[in-house]
Amino acid sequence: MSASFPEQSVAVLFSGGDAPGMNAFLRAIVRLGLNREKIAVLGIRDGYRGLVRTARAVNDDPEALVRLKQDIASHTGRAGLISEQLHIIQMDHASVSGIMGKGGTILGSARCLEFHDKKVRDSVIKLLKNLNVRALVVVGGDGSLTGAKLLAEESDLRIIGIPATIDNDLQFTDMALGVDTAVNTLVWAVDHFIDTARSHRRVMVLETMGRASGDLARMAGLASGAEMIVTPEAGALNEEAINKLAAKIEGAMTRGRGHAIVLVAEGVEFDPPQKRNRAYVLMDAFQQYFQRAGAPFPDLEVRPSVLGHLQRGGHTTPQDCLLAARFADCAWNSIQQADGGSGITALRKNVIEIVPYGEPDMPERADFSREMERLHDDLSSW
Ligand code: F6P
Repeated sequence: MSASFPEQSVAVLFSGGDAPGMNAFLRAIVRLGLNREKIAVLGIRDGYRGLVRTARAVNDDPEALVRLKQDIASHTGRAGLISEQLHIIQMDHASVSGIMGKGGTILGSARCLEFHDKKVRDSVIKLLKNLNVRALVVVGGDGSLTGAKLLAEESDLRIIGIPATIDNDLQFTDMALGVDTAVNTLVWAVDHFIDTARSHRRVMVLETMGRASGDLARMAGLASGAEMIVTPEAGALNEEAINKLAAKIEGAMTRGRGHAIVLVAEGVEFDPPQKRNRAYVLMDAFQQYFQRAGAPFPDLEVRPSVLGHLQRGGHTTPQDCLLAARFADCAWNSIQQADGGSGITALRKNVIEIVPYGEPDMPERADFSREMERLHDDLSSW
């Protein structure tokens, strides 16, 4: 049955690397919109790219715009999700049913380099206005929220950003969506590696994601009991620094330790720079150190593993589902405030609030990172 195109709506898109909790957020923003605010929610497929493609197809063609509105109105909910042609879907209750704990995002996510171009952003603003969209909710990490900031500066639309990235590298919020699940997955992975590391009395070097930030590795290291965490914030590792790490492991073996799990964040750099994955570079360097002339454990073996995209998938933790619901609630409250502006939802000391784009780094975040490092050292048996 064909419905009419909504006279006003809020649009939501997911951008950049997917993060667990995105589906829980979609469910919350749609259900709050329909149940509480009585405003239609348009789901945008494939992030900014979906908007750019649609703008290109309809902006200079009034008839195409009319057809698009008819298509959206006649393919609401699941019908719209099934249609590969449609980049904009009017969401209904059923379309977000059963997705709460599912990883990824049913609307798709993408990185969109074209969005760096102001003309492209202008075309998207024009499209949103033509579709009666009064606010756009952008869910993603650093790059996606920079795009949201630009849209907010260049239009009078309300643009609400939602921090979602497993990297936890957004310094204005204590936690981003997806971090808790990724830490959970890493702890699960470390548990598996411990079993085999212990059996073979080996050193396992596991590379985590996180871009330039070591937070994900630090949180996972502390929560899993990994013996060593190597993060980028300490600066580039030269031969001397790597040998010190190897000596620390060897020292622990001398005192009776049987195995070691080393978490290395993907943002770690080397001096001189290395092209290979960090886990492999450290494996070779450690192995060489353990086999040097006169070493106490020349048979000590090192195995590397790059954990990769495993960290982004899987069932969303209840903690991330809760955060998703709270972010969605805050986003709606801000959108509905007559004199409210644009901004990003943030979790600070367990309070959810809207902070302006470009908010300076919170000193507490650096304290948190240091606290994790200190605790990891204090909990060590080395
Ligand atoms: O930002 C999230 C993240 O998973 C990073 O940790 C990682 O460096 C990057 O995305 C990987 O991106 P892609 O999925 O495009 O390979």
